[in-house]
Amino acid sequence: MLAVAVLAAGKGTRMKSALPKVLQPLAGATLVERVLASCRHLAPERQLLIVGHQAERVERSLSSVPGLEFVLQQPQNGTGHAVQQLLKPLAGFEGELLVLNGDVPLLRPETLESLLTTHRESGAAVTLLSARLADPSGYGRVFADASGQVSGIVEHRDCDAQQLRNDLTNAGIYCFDWARLAAVLPSLSSDNDQGELYLTDTVALLRPAMHLEVGDPDEVAGINDRLQLAQCEAVLQDRLRRHWMAEGVSFTDPGSCTLSEHTRFGRDVLVEPQCHFRGATSIGDGCRIGPGCLIENSHLDDGVEVIHSVLRDSSVATGCVIGPFAQLRAGTHLAAGCRIGNFVEVKNSRLGEGCKANHLSYLGDADLGADVNVGAGTITANFDGVRKHRTVIGSNSKTGANSVLVAPITLGAGVTVGAGSTLTRNVPAGALALGRARQLVKENWNAGAQQQQGVAG
Ligand code: UD1
Ligand code: CA
Repeated sequence: MLAVAVLAAGKGTRMKSALPKVLQPLAGATLVERVLASCRHLAPERQLLIVGHQAERVERSLSSVPGLEFVLQQPQNGTGHAVQQLLKPLAGFEGELLVLNGDVPLLRPETLESLLTTHRESGAAVTLLSARLADPSGYGRVFADASGQVSGIVEHRDCDAQQLRNDLTNAGIYCFDWARLAAVLPSLSSDNDQGELYLTDTVALLRPAMHLEVGDPDEVAGINDRLQLAQCEAVLQDRLRRHWMAEGVSFTDPGSCTLSEHTRFGRDVLVEPQCHFRGATSIGDGCRIGPGCLIENSHLDDGVEVIHSVLRDSSVATGCVIGPFAQLRAGTHLAAGCRIGNFVEVKNSRLGEGCKANHLSYLGDADLGADVNVGAGTITANFDGVRKHRTVIGSNSKTGANSVLVAPITLGAGVTVGAGSTLTRNVPAGALALGRARQLVKENWNAGAQQQQGVAG
């Protein structure tokens, strides 16, 4: 039987943040979500999360994870104290306990699998992951012999000058035989620089204790401050870009683009510099994105082109061309072949196939049929100061430049709206609607001035 415990009760003082450390986001997922994901494939019988600092907030963020048990650690008196809280919920449990630090988010599932296999094969009381780091400062140091037997772990701040020269560091990831750990947990003491109970002290009490050194030290990077958060983000972004390049996506300047864990791409997508994909975004085959786009929680079908634009919570059907400098806000749905041009904002609107809004427009809370031509500067006035109203425009209609459609309003199919019109009433299919002052021309209005000019000239 396997139980997994994730330590997530600490405050994360060094982050200097109102957000609990384990809820800091990293490429579209929180630290703790990533840690939980790294062990999911092991299908543990029990999954426990130790919470303390802002416990409710951490619990709420994970309320949809099936089978996760929350264990409260109050106050937070160190990692050993955190694991002591498991004595009750795991009373009578037989098997291995995998302990994961909630702030070590880059672990690969394969690494945990080999930790578990190594542990089971050696029959050790504890097996821990270690790494040789170029800069081991801040990490606990692992003291081990050539056969991999660990005599103990000393925290950086408790090391003497000689011990600090040891670059074999503790990753904060352990596989324990639960019964043997449970027997030594009550004997931990707080005789150290921080005055806390250290989980690492159990290692010297358990025999045999083994370590498994990871090949890629990036995997066991712990996050204590914003610099380490940024470094982990960079590692994850690099992993994500490499993954998608291997799947057939071209990046002209990969380092300038960022992806989310939940971004998906089809084949032969070209991503130009400075493009950012967030949330659950999917990009179809053959799309050309960028330069300069932000696309969040949106779905693009095949063959869409987007340049210098922002798209959020929207869907775009095949063959649409967007930008430069367009904004699609939440609830925008474009049918195939639409064209949204510069300085056009669309919100909570459906556009039928082949619609064009090429210049300087706002379409909010609107439903457009197919092949509507939205003239430059057309505005849907959707807000009366209290409520939002809808604008409906039938297929094959054309709005003239600078027209204002005051919602609620419905224009039938094949309507033409004269330039500069402000429409407040519905227009039947096939009609021409003009809502503007008639042009007045007064001839010879400036006759006197002309004569004077003539004299002067
Ligand atoms: C810990 C290890 C260190 C290791 C490093 C790897 C100890 C004593 N030290 O140090 O050997 O090199 O991780 O990253 O374990 N937490 C609780 N309750 C507490 C205190 C902490 O749940 O009372 C949680 C934190 O939320 C965090 C994790 O335990 O997720 C690690 O705590 P942290 O204070 O960051 O330990 P480090 O000093 O990094
Ligand atoms: Ca840490």
